[in-house]
Amino acid sequence: MQLSEIKSAPLKSWIQQWADLCTPDQVVICDGSKAEYDFCCNLLVRAGTFIKLDKKPNSYACRTDASDVARVEERTYICSKAKDDAGPTNNWCDPAEMREKLTGLFKGCMSGRTMYVIPFSMGPVESPIAKYGFEISDSPYVVVNMHIMTRVSDTIVAKVEAGAEFVKCVHSVGYPLAANQPDIPWPCAPIEKKHITHFPDTREIISFGSGYGGNALLGKKCFALRIASVQARDEGWLAEHMLILKLTSPKGEVKFVAAAFPSACGKTNLAMMEPSLPGWKVETIGDDIAWMKFGKDGRLYAINPENGFFGVAPGTSMKSNPNAMRTVNQGNSIFSNCALTMDGDVFWEDMDTVPELCIDWQRRPWKKGSAVKAAHPNARFTSPAAQCPVVAPEWESPAGVPISAFLFGGRRAGVVPLVNEATSWEHGVFMGATMSSEMTAAAIGGAGQLRFDPFAMLPFCGYNMGDYFAHWLKVGANAPDKSKLPKIFYVNWFRKNDAGKWLWPGYGENSRVLKWIFERCSGEGKAVETAIGNLPMPDALDLNGLKVTDEDKSLLLSVDKAGWLAAVPQVKAHLDKFGSHLPQALADQLAALETRLQK
Ligand code: GTP
Ligand code: SPV
Ligand code: MN
Repeated sequence: MQLSEIKSAPLKSWIQQWADLCTPDQVVICDGSKAEYDFCCNLLVRAGTFIKLDKKPNSYACRTDASDVARVEERTYICSKAKDDAGPTNNWCDPAEMREKLTGLFKGCMSGRTMYVIPFSMGPVESPIAKYGFEISDSPYVVVNMHIMTRVSDTIVAKVEAGAEFVKCVHSVGYPLAANQPDIPWPCAPIEKKHITHFPDTREIISFGSGYGGNALLGKKCFALRIASVQARDEGWLAEHMLILKLTSPKGEVKFVAAAFPSACGKTNLAMMEPSLPGWKVETIGDDIAWMKFGKDGRLYAINPENGFFGVAPGTSMKSNPNAMRTVNQGNSIFSNCALTMDGDVFWEDMDTVPELCIDWQRRPWKKGSAVKAAHPNARFTSPAAQCPVVAPEWESPAGVPISAFLFGGRRAGVVPLVNEATSWEHGVFMGATMSSEMTAAAIGGAGQLRFDPFAMLPFCGYNMGDYFAHWLKVGANAPDKSKLPKIFYVNWFRKNDAGKWLWPGYGENSRVLKWIFERCSGEGKAVETAIGNLPMPDALDLNGLKVTDEDKSLLLSVDKAGWLAAVPQVKAHLDKFGSHLPQALADQLAALETRLQK
């Protein structure tokens, strides 16, 4: 399809305006075909960006620039009209000022390059919950990743011509080429020129200078979380950083669970887990993002707006996440910043077999036993969701799946128990609002530091987070049938002992916690009321056959009153940041918690 064939005037003029500013050599309207995918992959091989793998069908290894390896939260902006609408947790810039700055950066930025226009759907194209977008990008890496992560199709052009709304996404790697200037394998701009900007009032995203993941694949964090959270606020639904899984009991009963854990804190693993408990089954609906609306029956229905996985590679093995390994081993995948083996495969830390020799992610020779990491800690695989051997049959259901439970959690070495059930919707929202977790390599800077990450949305909420808490409270208060609201739980797989060893084995053993949650949702599982919430009765958690000492078990399931009390001032300071935007109900929850802890 040519630009001239597009019949929608607003779409055509938007593209033309960016083409005029960016001055690419040519404009290509993408169609989502396999031929287009193969063409771009070949282009990337020729450019030295991709290396075709001998050991996995139709798959490529990609090494980025060493400076362009993760999301850049410091360079990410919410450009709402009023600063107050971005709130205390986002970088804000006046929209007019940012547009002027971006106009300067984008002027001529695609010289010597092709401008791709990618029409895509977040969610199954015909789902009433789905939304459409167009991403303009000068990166063929973005084109092929968007092919896997979203539903790219020129039918979206027809939808927009028929009047459908779309989110406008513009991306450039920020590395124009002068006449006869040779390209480099990973063009990008220096950190101070990188700008990941969002204009919630006009539903626009403009991203400059980075080619990587959440900075560049604009359907994912920028659209499906930051812009969608604003749409969800305005339209009365939820856009969340959550996996969605289908849990089937040995009796064949089914419940769907959604879980919000911060970046690199176990969503992909939980979504695909192989339960260690006999007879239980986990199937995957999504591993990163959930969009949820109430159905006619009063239940909350979730879809996965994505079409693939952009999963953390290091730590993924046949032991920890066999279904992710089976997904990528089928091929049709892209491996970013993994190491390359001498026989044409990829390698990363904690994989089942370690090669004697390989090429690390920075193209240097790497030997078994070396102290440096072969793969970057935020190395990622991009793989089609349909290839996952445990993808649930209903994963593309246009209506979504009814959610019975929400899980919140993060990496906490101390204090926070293995599982804790909220006593009410408000208490659950308080748990979400006060989540904290040690930072990971998914964002540049700060790895290991403990920070509050409310609802795992700290880097992804497109508006004032105090208002976002109020939105969650409103969803509960206005629910068509409060008895059908999901129950809320807080989990922590990451507790450590004094020697720094995990107290809980995690991964497939997390099915023991899922079983208790399932039973709580059916009104069966037994709980004991504590100051912080409902914990499993000593015998209610199925620990049959698990090798965990009694001492560790009691640590995992006890309430560290002193630890919780010591955290109250930090929690208060965190909530106080939201000033007049903090819902009173959350301040009340904290006061009530403190009183219970002091008893
Ligand atoms: P994003 O894609 O960044 O949003 O991350 P995610 O939440 O999907 O994280 P993922 O499941 O990819 O896990 C990240 C890291 O945590 C991997 O290295 C895993 O091996 C590790 N991990 C996942 N689940 C567990 C667990 O139950 N216990 C322990 N100790 N580690 C885990
Ligand atoms: C995350 O950081 O939460 C991710 C990876 O899922 S990225 O797409 O880079 O944001
Ligand atoms: Mn994520």
